[in-house]
Amino acid sequence: FRLPDIKNEPMRNYPPGSEDRAKLQAALKEFKNKAPIEIPVFVNGKEIYTNKIAEQRNPSEHATVIAKFHEADSSIVEQAIKGALDIKPIWESYPLADRSAIFLKAADLAATKYRYKLLAATMLGQGKTTWQAEIDAAAETIDFWRFNVKYAHKMYQQQPTENSPGVWNRVEYRPLEGFVYAVTPFNFTAIAGNLTGAPALLGNVVLHKPSSGSVLSNWVIMEIFREAGLPDGVIQFIPGSAQEITDQILKSPDFASLHFTGSTTVFRKLWKDIGNNIENYKSYPRIVGETGGKNFHVIHESANVTNAVNQTIRGAFEYQGQKCSACSRAYVPDSLWEKFRNELLKEHAKIKIGPVDDFSNFMGPVINSNSFVKIKSYIEWVKEDGDSEIIAGGNYDDSKGYFVSPTIVVTKNPKSKTIVEEIFGPVLTIHVYKADEFDQILDIANDSVYALTGSIFAQERSAVLLAHNKLRHASGNFYINDKSTGAIVGQQPFGGSRASGTNDKAGSINLLYRFTSMRTIKENF
Ligand code: SER
Repeated sequence: FRLPDIKNEPMRNYPPGSEDRAKLQAALKEFKNKAPIEIPVFVNGKEIYTNKIAEQRNPSEHATVIAKFHEADSSIVEQAIKGALDIKPIWESYPLADRSAIFLKAADLAATKYRYKLLAATMLGQGKTTWQAEIDAAAETIDFWRFNVKYAHKMYQQQPTENSPGVWNRVEYRPLEGFVYAVTPFNFTAIAGNLTGAPALLGNVVLHKPSSGSVLSNWVIMEIFREAGLPDGVIQFIPGSAQEITDQILKSPDFASLHFTGSTTVFRKLWKDIGNNIENYKSYPRIVGETGGKNFHVIHESANVTNAVNQTIRGAFEYQGQKCSACSRAYVPDSLWEKFRNELLKEHAKIKIGPVDDFSNFMGPVINSNSFVKIKSYIEWVKEDGDSEIIAGGNYDDSKGYFVSPTIVVTKNPKSKTIVEEIFGPVLTIHVYKADEFDQILDIANDSVYALTGSIFAQERSAVLLAHNKLRHASGNFYINDKSTGAIVGQQPFGGSRASGTNDKAGSINLLYRFTSMRTIKENF
């Protein structure tokens, strides 16, 4: 059979007066009127109300509890593991076409009936503007589900080409033996869809622990899976205490894989815990993670300044610098500095920040109080640092929502704290270098514990080439004359190495290999 044509989902921009805008506003209103939305644990096809309740607040106005969610306790986690393992023999024997149909249907539901609800949940729960919610909760979620289907079929078709006379050799792309544990972050709704959906498409069963900052949108993802016909128990939705749930799961002998997006610190800890349990597992677990970043823009003196400035503003401040891929450090040659600085300040002055249901805002709040406090402490550190100067922003206000103004720091020290450490907020640090020391600045840019994304801005090919070579291992996604954010499924497979992750590339066939365990079959006739 042939798959339907798979293309990127067209993005919508919800202009004033449009039907899309009206439907989105209605979805926002419905969540607000019904807040707090009560969210159960969902295990073996049952909504379970544990009455151990936690809250998700609207970061644009933190007095509002947008969702109350029931937390999974240890008996539920046990049921979730057992139920997933019970359904597994049935699920893994579904033909790929039937599993694919469920995910293609989920994609269609997300593109139509659920689109506005997905956006509204992401805007109100995670502080994304409409556009940021559209590119994440709608477009990227849909693209992950559709493109994974395309890649899975491609993978299954890869078969041995040689057969001796009287022999038929073939390979079977089995799912892993055991279950996958998906731990998903607050910052992308689509990641919840992919960290659960990619392994499940291949016949795996998945336990999903959503971040407490994105439970509402992740619950909508679960609703879509249910409506699309995913059998009960294939993806188990178990919000709750990360520590308790994880400890219990990592003790299970059937734990087969960790599919993680989150902080470097947590991922390293989980890796160690898995190592400490290794004798107890039936198989060596597959560990797949996307973690921290300190993503760079290197500007060469041949760069188009206007483009470099626009991309830097977008890379650094869209979604308040809370994309894993956000640009948080930039290196600008002294020969361009005056022009670059003037244009940067001009663009910075245009940025509107405020609650995300005011559609005119370009930036919203940061996710929660912990994050606000952490970012604030970096800004305060900069104010005291003799080498650093804040040239724009530097303010914050959490009286209503967790708002931090887009902040631009210039530092004389290329190893200064804010140009080295991950802040995960709207703070961009710039170092101005001598234009004839381009070679050296590439070494400095390369010298980071992280390697997620990065960009070179240059018109001269020789500069592009030098950066391409010297920054080979400095990022998993390398951009030439474009911002460090905004990878599109099917176009730029996403992920990084070093302390940024295992670089298994979300949105590519590579990721799917990690959740398969091939069986080679030789048959004599
Ligand atoms: N995939 C997103 C981007 O490229 C970040 O997680 O911006």
